[in-house]
Amino acid sequence: MPDKATTLILFGATGDLAARMLLPSLYGLVLDDLLPPSLRIVATARSAHDDASFRALARTALAEHVPAAFFDEAAADRFLERVTYVTLDATDAAGYQRLAEAAGTPGETAIFLSTAPSLFKPTIDNLAAVGLAGDHVRLALEKPLGSDLASSREINDAVASAFPEERTFRIDHYLGKETVQNLLALRFANLLFEPVWSSNHIDHVQITVSETIGLEGRGDYYDGAGALRDMVQNHMLQLLALVAMEPPSAFDATAVRDEKVKVLRSLRPMRVEDSVTGQYGSGAVTGKPVGSYVEDLGRASETETFVALKAHVDNWRWAGVSFYLRTGKRCPERRTEITIQFKCVPHSMFAGRGATSTPNRLVISIQPEENITLELMAKRPGLDRGGIRLQEVPLAIGRADAFEDTRRRIAYERLLLDLIEGDPTLFVRRDEVEAQWQWIDGIRAAWASAGQKPRPYASGTWGPSAAIALIERDGRSWND
Ligand code: BG6
Repeated sequence: MPDKATTLILFGATGDLAARMLLPSLYGLVLDDLLPPSLRIVATARSAHDDASFRALARTALAEHVPAAFFDEAAADRFLERVTYVTLDATDAAGYQRLAEAAGTPGETAIFLSTAPSLFKPTIDNLAAVGLAGDHVRLALEKPLGSDLASSREINDAVASAFPEERTFRIDHYLGKETVQNLLALRFANLLFEPVWSSNHIDHVQITVSETIGLEGRGDYYDGAGALRDMVQNHMLQLLALVAMEPPSAFDATAVRDEKVKVLRSLRPMRVEDSVTGQYGSGAVTGKPVGSYVEDLGRASETETFVALKAHVDNWRWAGVSFYLRTGKRCPERRTEITIQFKCVPHSMFAGRGATSTPNRLVISIQPEENITLELMAKRPGLDRGGIRLQEVPLAIGRADAFEDTRRRIAYERLLLDLIEGDPTLFVRRDEVEAQWQWIDGIRAAWASAGQKPRPYASGTWGPSAAIALIERDGRSWND
């Protein structure tokens, strides 16, 4: 691993992601005293600011986005003292010399591009021209990293021209979420699960990422992407890979990513009949009336805002196991959850007494709550006729109960700290991102040749009824 960075350069510093996530995350690292003491932060964007006016802007963003219980003026001062600002149009080569001067004498430098992907290539070329590339610089990139395999390769080639793979940090913010990492702890720090973690004992897996929000003013990007490319290509496939991968030999960047990429390459090409797409119409979400996607966008569109898929990982461990994935905007609730549904017991000795037994389920909730629940059958207390009555009861690790004293962190805190410390384990490697795109391109090609169009669904519902039929025709149901 490279040494800790002494300079962090943040492109897109006046943007929405910076205000909501990146600046609050850096503040959080200062609050917990986790940043290297010598780390300086150079913020840059096109808007004209000097250090003082940018710091004022950043302070406003912190006041708005850091929960009041953790907002500490002195910590905000300590954070902002480290920050300087350079006004720069990313396509203007002449301005980069000022950036290099602000970054100071070459030391280990981390650069974070929170900008439109169309700016990646010119930015990288301009950085390289002033010596902000090479073996003392590491580069982090935000999604979208392309819109298909070909465009993703173009971005990756542009990056590779100036930054070796081990210095390229592709962000999937889901990997910074606490419970996503906890999935690794659950699987590989406990003896209990691994022996039953296969088609021998698992009936199927469900991954749901539902949101209540709609377009949120992101129409220009979202309408060109749709739910498949916005959510499945990255976040959901990373979750699937973590659930399905073989045990890595070490918690390091090579071992973990080697195992994930094997899963991604084993995904079976999708059949059109195993997929459902939808687009939200008007309706009500959490009691509030909302308009349709087309109204939000302001023009006609055939972009999907919901997708449900039945996927398969074609390898020895997962033969015959379906992975049902669904994600959508304007669903009834915000929920990110993985359900591992085990098979029925081979013989229920209670059945003859009329007691029914439900198969065990392991539910990993990532948001809004972070907890892991194992649903087990237990005897209901009492002197029931016939001897016994069974009931499903949860065995739960709730974050709030088990780890009371920990602050709930933004996913970017972990990722920014790892970037600064030079640890790429929780970032996406080129071969992973390309395997993800390859599978997604296959789905889009199948949709195009079948003329598949999104079906309407009312806002505040779980997508089109075909998404329910997708799983129910297999005699199963979504874990709602
Ligand atoms: C982003 C998508 O990557 O993830 C958004 O572009 C989506 O459309 C967001 O809303 C969801 O992230 P989270 O952390 O709120 O689940």
